[in-house]
Amino acid sequence: MSALIGVLKSVAALCLALAIFYVMNLAAGALYTQRGLEQPAYVILADDAPAEAAAEAPSFEELLANASAASGERLFRECQACHRVEEGVHGVGPSLYGVVGRDVASFDDFRYSAAFSAIEGVWTPERIDALITNPQGFARGTAMTYAGMRRASDRADVIAYLQSLGM
Ligand code: HEC
Repeated sequence: MSALIGVLKSVAALCLALAIFYVMNLAAGALYTQRGLEQPAYVILADDAPAEAAAEAPSFEELLANASAASGERLFRECQACHRVEEGVHGVGPSLYGVVGRDVASFDDFRYSAAFSAIEGVWTPERIDALITNPQGFARGTAMTYAGMRRASDRADVIAYLQSLGM
């Protein structure tokens, strides 16, 4: 008999504990919603410098101003499969000697695609940047079957190298 009473006491104690837990939970929930504390009551102040740096990616002008022609010469290996830098010497692609500031598709002895022949104006650094970022995006149908150079600083380096050629 006393064993049964012991068990009943334990069950009662457990029920009471659960009930108290439930009520406290409710009370806490009410407190939170009343005070609008769904928001954390305190904020850990993280160093937000990296976020700022990401928001302010350097402009193309800044990249070009700080570009390295020497690094560009190494990166130009990607272009060398098709382009030569000697004046007037063409490969799969036209010579890139003095290309910065040159008219687009200006060689009579190179067969440009219709897509390129239709482009007016000169090769500004910005235009070359757009071309080598994504040739097909720059001029759909271009014969320049190059996948594109992903890093903006790499592209600026290559353009700095191209700029240095005619000098
Ligand atoms: C797979 C070959 C290939 C690769 C690699 C390639 N190009 Fe070209 N490129 C061409 C061809 C072909 C043309 C002519 C495009 C046309 O007529 O549509 C061209 C045209 C150009 C022109 C315009 C020249 C003009 O006379 O108007 C520039 C500038 C240029 N490429 C830069 C680059 C640079 C910089 C790279 C490397 C990052 C590169 N290309 C990589 C094949 C290539």
